[in-house]
Amino acid sequence: MADQMDNLKDIMALLVEILVLIIKSFFYMVESVYRRINPQPEKSITDDIVLITGTGHGIGKALALQFAELSAKVVCVDINEQSNLETVKEINAKSKAKAYAYRCDVSSLENVRELGDKVKSEVGTVTILVNNAGIMPCKPLEAHNEATIRKLFDINVFAHFWMLDTFLPGMKALKKGHVVSLSSMAGIIGLQNLVPYCASKFAVRGLNEAMVDECQENGFKDIKFTCIYPYMVDTGLCQKPKIRFPSLLPLVTPESTAKEIISAVRRDYLETTIPSSLLLINNIFRCVPVKMAFDFKEFMGGGVDAHED
Ligand SMILES: NC(=O)c1ccc[n+]([C@@H]2O[C@H](COP(=O)([O-])OP(=O)(O)OC[C@H]3O[C@@H](n4cnc5c(N)ncnc54)[C@H](O)[C@@H]3O)[C@@H](O)[C@H]2O)c1
Repeated sequence: MADQMDNLKDIMALLVEILVLIIKSFFYMVESVYRRINPQPEKSITDDIVLITGTGHGIGKALALQFAELSAKVVCVDINEQSNLETVKEINAKSKAKAYAYRCDVSSLENVRELGDKVKSEVGTVTILVNNAGIMPCKPLEAHNEATIRKLFDINVFAHFWMLDTFLPGMKALKKGHVVSLSSMAGIIGLQNLVPYCASKFAVRGLNEAMVDECQENGFKDIKFTCIYPYMVDTGLCQKPKIRFPSLLPLVTPESTAKEIISAVRRDYLETTIPSSLLLINNIFRCVPVKMAFDFKEFMGGGVDAHED
């Protein structure tokens, strides 16, 4: 009899859990529609120390310049010392924020650890980390060799681990922070001539999602994560873009991309595509037969042509 009562209690508890799950799911759907119409306000980042990798050029440079308009301190990191110094000079000449330049190869754990020590003593605890530096060789898989594939994963994936290993403990000690990861639409959709690149950007997406879960489960709910999936940005990284409908999916500027990224960070979005409509389109296509999604991808005609390094 006692056993039967226990079983009944377990079943009731499970039913309550399922009911709560359904109610919460419904609430999240309503909330997401409401937030599309009425986005949540942007948080202030005036007291943050923002560290961005790959600030010598492209999206990273635009991010550094725009974060400097809003934040107290911007730490610019790039393997190219000269171009990085130019970014910092530009910031220090025209914005209120103080910018700092550090030369670092983010694919080297040793380099990143040294960077961590210097930034901690010379600037302070990083509260916003933007893992942006990346490379994109465009060629068929057979044209790659072990060295090019390893280099790509070292910069596009392993660097994220070394940066997290170095800067996350500071955020955990403060019990707050924000990590931004540059993935790509190539981290959502596989594309020819980009096999290793797509694999690396899918990895960044997985890393980000797993980190969200791990931090939430371990009492670090106030460490936020944002994963960014740009389509094509006019930085030169994408040397031979194929664009069938430029009025629908144009090459966007690094400046407008940086603006959208910062807005996503300030609204604590978990992820966003650039342009933002692509996320919705992708989610819809995840629900239809995969052949339909492939046909749509072909119709849109996006991607890149192969080119020499
Ligand atoms: N441009 C696009 O169309 C596009 C689209 C989707 C995603 N992305 C992603 O956005 C990020 C930035 O792209 P971008 O177009 O601005 O690139 P970019 O080539 O214009 O700039 C990249 C910067 O990273 C630096 N860098 C490269 N290797 C480094 C290393 N080992 N250590 C430190 N710094 C290093 C370079 O010196 C350069 O200043 C990349 O992760 C890229 O994959 C770009």
